[in-house]
Amino acid sequence: MADKQVFIFDTTLRDGEQVPGCKLNTKEKIELALKLETLGVDIIEAGFPISSPGDFESVNQISKVIKNATVCGLTRAVQKDIEVAAEALKPAVRPRIHTGIGSSDNHIKYKFNSTREEILERAVKAVKLARNYVPDVEFYAEDAGRADLQFLAQLTEAVIAAGATVVNVPDTTGFCLPHQYAEKMAYLMNNVSNIDKAILSCHCHNDLGLATANSIAGAIAGARQIECTINGIGERAGNTSLEEVVMAIRKHPELGLYTNVDPKQLLPMSRLVSETMRMVVQPNKAVVGDNAFSHSSGIHQDGFLKEATTYEIIAPEEVGADTSKIVLTARSGRSALAYRFKNLGYSFDRNQVDELYERFLQLADSKKEVEDADLKTLAEQVVVTA
Ligand code: KIV
Ligand code: ZN
Repeated sequence: MADKQVFIFDTTLRDGEQVPGCKLNTKEKIELALKLETLGVDIIEAGFPISSPGDFESVNQISKVIKNATVCGLTRAVQKDIEVAAEALKPAVRPRIHTGIGSSDNHIKYKFNSTREEILERAVKAVKLARNYVPDVEFYAEDAGRADLQFLAQLTEAVIAAGATVVNVPDTTGFCLPHQYAEKMAYLMNNVSNIDKAILSCHCHNDLGLATANSIAGAIAGARQIECTINGIGERAGNTSLEEVVMAIRKHPELGLYTNVDPKQLLPMSRLVSETMRMVVQPNKAVVGDNAFSHSSGIHQDGFLKEATTYEIIAPEEVGADTSKIVLTARSGRSALAYRFKNLGYSFDRNQVDELYERFLQLADSKKEVEDADLKTLAEQVVVTA
């Protein structure tokens, strides 16, 4: 059976940019959009055009320069939002309007003071209006993660009948467990009569640290689009991390899925977004964190130096990183120490390594990491006293 493509919908410039302090100007947004296109994402959500003149301008300018990816603009299920988004997206080769409304009883009651019937009506009206402007309309059922399943299916069927090409099933509050999110997708796949006319999309937030797991579970259950951001940035605990889903799919060919993202560009892209948004990437972040290819305990270092795959499922060059690092701490062993000395051009016999190791441990107990300069000092001591 041929592998199925999972479309990567990047929302770094929209959901990602909602992070306090991460606001981007139009120039920065255009630069990132061009890089995202080169990275190989299929859809770039460029912004929320009605939200401000600056965001309108960004979506409009991005629509002019992006030639291969779809450019998407967010709206509420509101006539003016849709008209403004359509205007901003006019120059796009492949424009998409992303419209939607709350679908959980919680949102229907507290956000909209409305009823399921009215929500259904507004959703259908919004999709029909958007289809007057563009052939590609995505509908988001906000807070689908907590919505009643039968109502969600009814809503999905109605918006597809109204012309939606993609139905986004957002776990807006990051509430679902992976099996629950997968069950939701499977239910929609099996109970929406016109599901063959649209694709389902995963949009998961990370409030319980499950955004990536939920997105992969959703794709396994039949969703063909994953919405994500570089470095997983986004509201509160963030969105699904693009680099994580791309590598999870790549590392598991048995899923029969693939994406068009070039993995070698993941680390440079992560650094660019981190610098542009002035948002530090946590060192232990999967795939792109500073420690993702660092080995510091003796057992791991020894195994890694014998054969890298003992402790690395991703080779650093696969994601555009330089090399793996052997970090020297008080937990490191002799083989790591000898390796680091060798890299500095030293060669010691066994007795010297034993002595160096004793001295190294004393030093390592007194500091977090033993650096090259420390090693040179140690080497001189042993050479001098030998
Ligand atoms: O999290 C969410 O529900 C969203 C929608 C606007 C798609 O970001
Ligand atoms: Zn979101």
